[in-house]
Amino acid sequence: MAAADITIPKDIAETLVDAPSYADNRIHDAYTWLRANAPLAVARPEGYEPFWVVTRHADILEISRQNELFHSGDKSTTLISTEGDARIRQMTGGSPHLVRSLVQMDAPDHPKYRVLTQAWFLPQNIRKLEDRIREIARAAVDRMLATGGQCDFVREIALHYPLHVIMEILGVPENDEPRMLKLTQELFGAADPELGRQEDAAPDEIESLPGVLADFFQYFARLSTDRREHPRGDLASVIANSQIDGRPISEFEAMSYYVIVAAAGHDTTSSTTSGAMLALCQNPDQFAWVKEDLGRVPGLIDEAIRWTTPVKTFMRSATADAEVAGQPIAKDDWLMLCYASGNRDESVFEEPDRFRPGRTPNKQLAFGYGAHLCLGQHLAKMEMRILYEELLPRLSSVEQAGEARMSQAVFVNGLKSLPLRFQAA
Ligand code: HEM
Repeated sequence: MAAADITIPKDIAETLVDAPSYADNRIHDAYTWLRANAPLAVARPEGYEPFWVVTRHADILEISRQNELFHSGDKSTTLISTEGDARIRQMTGGSPHLVRSLVQMDAPDHPKYRVLTQAWFLPQNIRKLEDRIREIARAAVDRMLATGGQCDFVREIALHYPLHVIMEILGVPENDEPRMLKLTQELFGAADPELGRQEDAAPDEIESLPGVLADFFQYFARLSTDRREHPRGDLASVIANSQIDGRPISEFEAMSYYVIVAAAGHDTTSSTTSGAMLALCQNPDQFAWVKEDLGRVPGLIDEAIRWTTPVKTFMRSATADAEVAGQPIAKDDWLMLCYASGNRDESVFEEPDRFRPGRTPNKQLAFGYGAHLCLGQHLAKMEMRILYEELLPRLSSVEQAGEARMSQAVFVNGLKSLPLRFQAA
């Protein structure tokens, strides 16, 4: 990284690495400033390797689609302190990653591993699940209505519905869902004082991660053995029996595969589901507008995905000297893709700070772009569409009945509580 690069002011650089700033609007204030004044510049927060901060929609896409030039596997794909990175490398014998899933891979391995499950997630296969997902959604809505008019939408609905869908697809029995939920919250919410495994959570969040992953691995090792001996029609059977170049995939990579599907498959979707509800409470006119014509639900979902952008950041590193938006990026430089900023880019979205379910086109980039484009995007959209198609006709009004609280995390975050008061239709 050249010394002459534009350096981001210290207070903004510190905000970018501060998990609590992601739980309120401070991160959006920082992004707005960056897009206007330093859209591609270097953050040098204390205790971190300096990294480029990419805040404009066009630059995020340009970097994300050049997967040869900007790798996922060479450095940590999530923001980590220099000390945390050193500890992980010590534990792994040199690798910056505790798992090796699709997210941490580059070509030639990445496409070989991605293709193993890609067919599963294609719209034509996902469509076959629609009826079953609708049953699960109806049951979730029934549970909400049975509360009689007051509930915490996150705890009653948003956490459990996507969890149940992905666990059924994966083949995890319903009894084990609470365990999967807890482990995912400990993984993504490691820095949050309420969700992380450590009692005092941040700043040493990585301490708890090997234990969380060991628990995930132990659980999936048993599931995998079972599915090798007794394959079924579920995704666990696909992963357990996967082969690459005529050989079974290694245990470590199989375990990592389970973890990415299990964890990425519900937390993000839960956050978007509850984010949509909060936005509807804050915009009663939009609630009425979508309810009037359920054909507007897909637009609601796209806008909720843009609005919440649950995956806030992913990191890349340059494999060679490059230039993006006139800035010279040097080989080995680390870059932070700020999806939540790209999704509020004024040059792409009219009135970016307004929630507008009727927005067309909606070029949200919350699923990433390029070779790592979210594998579960069709599933996520479909399950959220179905839930709102089932829920909206059964509500005549809904309002917030208490404080909406967000989790604290630089990587994946969302609402952890949303008290509601509602009237059934
Ligand atoms: C609103 C919901 C979701 C959001 C916002 C989201 C976001 C993302 C993003 C930003 C990436 C890109 C990672 C990168 O560039 O390195 C990604 C990848 C991925 N997502 Fe999602 N995701 C969602 C739901 C799901 C679901 C339901 C699944 C189901 C299994 C899933 C599975 C994956 C997997 C396996 C990858 C890795 C793909 C690869 O690296 O090739 N996601 N997701």
